[in-house]
Amino acid sequence: MSTGGRTLVAERGGALGGSLRVPGDKSISHRAVMLGAIADGTTVVDGFLGGADNRATIAAFRALGVAVEGPDENHRVVVHGVGRDGLRAAEGPLDLGNSGTSMRLLAGLLAAQPFDTTLTGDASLTRRPMRRVTEPLATMGAVIETGAEGTPPLTIRGGRVLTGIDYALPVASAQVKSALLLAGLYAQGTTRVTEPAPTRDHTERMLAGFGYAVERGDGWAAVTGGGRLTAAEVDVPADISSAAFFLVAASIIPGSELVLEHVGVNPTRTGVIEILCLMGADIREENPREVGGEPVADLRVRAAELHGIDIPEALVPLAIDEFPVLFIAAAAARGTTRLTGARELRVKESDRIQVMADGLNTLGVVAEPAEDGITITGGPLGGGRVASHGDHRIAMAFAVAGAVADAPVTITDCDNVETSFPDFAGAARAAGLAVREAGPDEY
Ligand code: S3P
Repeated sequence: MSTGGRTLVAERGGALGGSLRVPGDKSISHRAVMLGAIADGTTVVDGFLGGADNRATIAAFRALGVAVEGPDENHRVVVHGVGRDGLRAAEGPLDLGNSGTSMRLLAGLLAAQPFDTTLTGDASLTRRPMRRVTEPLATMGAVIETGAEGTPPLTIRGGRVLTGIDYALPVASAQVKSALLLAGLYAQGTTRVTEPAPTRDHTERMLAGFGYAVERGDGWAAVTGGGRLTAAEVDVPADISSAAFFLVAASIIPGSELVLEHVGVNPTRTGVIEILCLMGADIREENPREVGGEPVADLRVRAAELHGIDIPEALVPLAIDEFPVLFIAAAAARGTTRLTGARELRVKESDRIQVMADGLNTLGVVAEPAEDGITITGGPLGGGRVASHGDHRIAMAFAVAGAVADAPVTITDCDNVETSFPDFAGAARAAGLAVREAGPDEY
């Protein structure tokens, strides 16, 4: 996809050093607004990620009649909850921009409201598969119209009575699990979701933090409808998915030693650390603590010689958003890295297997895509011009590649970096990376 917009240039610089707190966790920020909106009372969220995706969630709830203040310059958001039955019909379609999480979770949350809602998004989001949520929601009694091919826009018909289901997810997806649990808050009886492999459990943890009982067992979570949520204080940790760019950069740039502060290290998110450590990385968790039901630590990363591995399939859902930059680690490593069991990467903000393979090939790296993964042979990286296809994580991954390439790497279509990491280039420079916006003659 081409969205146009900014071009970034990344070049070889020096070692990374010092300490850095990357912006707040995107998944947790979305959920804090959603649960705060339907809770009784006022929810205060600190460390909120003010990126475009989370702003789209805030705008959606404002349109549904919820007063939301912020985010202010201290990353605080205040959500004045309207209670479980207080949402009001929006006047027009809700535009969720690039945000798959907003769309899928809202589909569940809005499935049992008394009014209709239409959800839409940008060119990338309107190509993404939504039947994975609309089909199980229909089994609960929801009526949701999709475009041809099961893609957005979604029109959710109001006034439906939902009944809890016992659902086994066909793919490991926290978005689908969360959509069903949120619908389950409004359903008669119990909604139980079983997952084929562990996925991020922020919804389960945060529901508990808002005083809503969540039953959990080995590979499943369940809620019983009809209860109420009580407003809470949410302290959002730094996003491990944003920290990942620096974990890889500091690992592959000789002489680096960097501390990433206050990073969320929920075990359903730490696959990136496990994979990098299997490749020989030197990453230590310091000052482990728990903040609002989520584990947090400072991550100290030192440069190390990485080597290729066969990535264990069990780690794939635990690192699902970090593969673009893990592929850069693989390109900079000695030997061959093989990823399998990761077909989901083809339906993210872009087809991350193909787009990364194309970009790596442009930089002279041998990267062979497969239907469900990729094989990457480590070796020297050259410079060149790569297309991010409007995918924030592809753009930032190639910015890391530029730091070890023989010549500058120019990355096009970078506006969507703002969806998850506002001022990425500024943070990257503060850590020591040579990343800048292209001048007019470099486009
Ligand atoms: C997310 C879940 C993941 C992830 C996405 C955020 C969430 O998607 O890729 O960026 O907040 O629940 P899937 O659940 O579809 O894998």
